Amino acid sequence: MTTEEILNFVHDLIYQQFSGEGTGHDYFHIERVVKTAVRIAKEEKADFFLVELAAWLHDVGDHKLNGGIDKSEEQITAILKQVNTPSETIAKVIDIVSQVSFSKGKVAESLEAKIVQDADRLDAIGAIGIARAFAFGGSKLREIHNPEKPAETSVKHFYDKLLKLKDKMNTNTGRAIAEQRHQYLENFLQRFYKEWNGED
Ligand code: ADP
Ligand code: NI
Repeated sequence: MTTEEILNFVHDLIYQQFSGEGTGHDYFHIERVVKTAVRIAKEEKADFFLVELAAWLHDVGDHKLNGGIDKSEEQITAILKQVNTPSETIAKVIDIVSQVSFSKGKVAESLEAKIVQDADRLDAIGAIGIARAFAFGGSKLREIHNPEKPAETSVKHFYDKLLKLKDKMNTNTGRAIAEQRHQYLENFLQRFYKEWNGED
């Protein structure tokens, strides 16, 4: 199998498996992460075959989508074996994916993991990040905002996570992209509170 054949196979499988998912981990989230990750990989001179492959697979077997149990290693291996991917490539992809997840609190060590993590985090900020936060919150039946009981609202998530991501970027390219997207979050919140208070 050529690298192109592996990527095509994985793309088609991810398209089938993740299309129409409603909590913000849908196919198009993954497609955006791939685009951004490849862009960063080119700037940072990383192995972009590995970066692209890991980006396509970064949400496979995730505990959030599998009833709390992490099945990424098992599911990624099963997928990549179907296209006769060399076992050292499979091991590298699993290693990258295991370092990526924010919610697992992992620190990315390899350059490829740093890049996929940056791309995944960039999709949680900016205009898209805002849309995803409210989609995710809604899927958990959370309120948009509640100044009396802010504990579990989607707006609270901005303070818990989204506004902190800019300072957690791993690569210079990621940091530069995060700057604008972060500013957009700040502007959004400013307007949100204005409108909340009945101002223009
Ligand atoms: P990852 O898949 O990188 O581990 P998460 O599952 O934590 O990340 O986040 C996926 C998306 O859901 C992100 O856009 C994130 O902002 C959003 N999200 C996660 N937790 C919450 C929450 N409590 N409220 C609103 N949005 C959330
Ligand atoms: Ni993701």
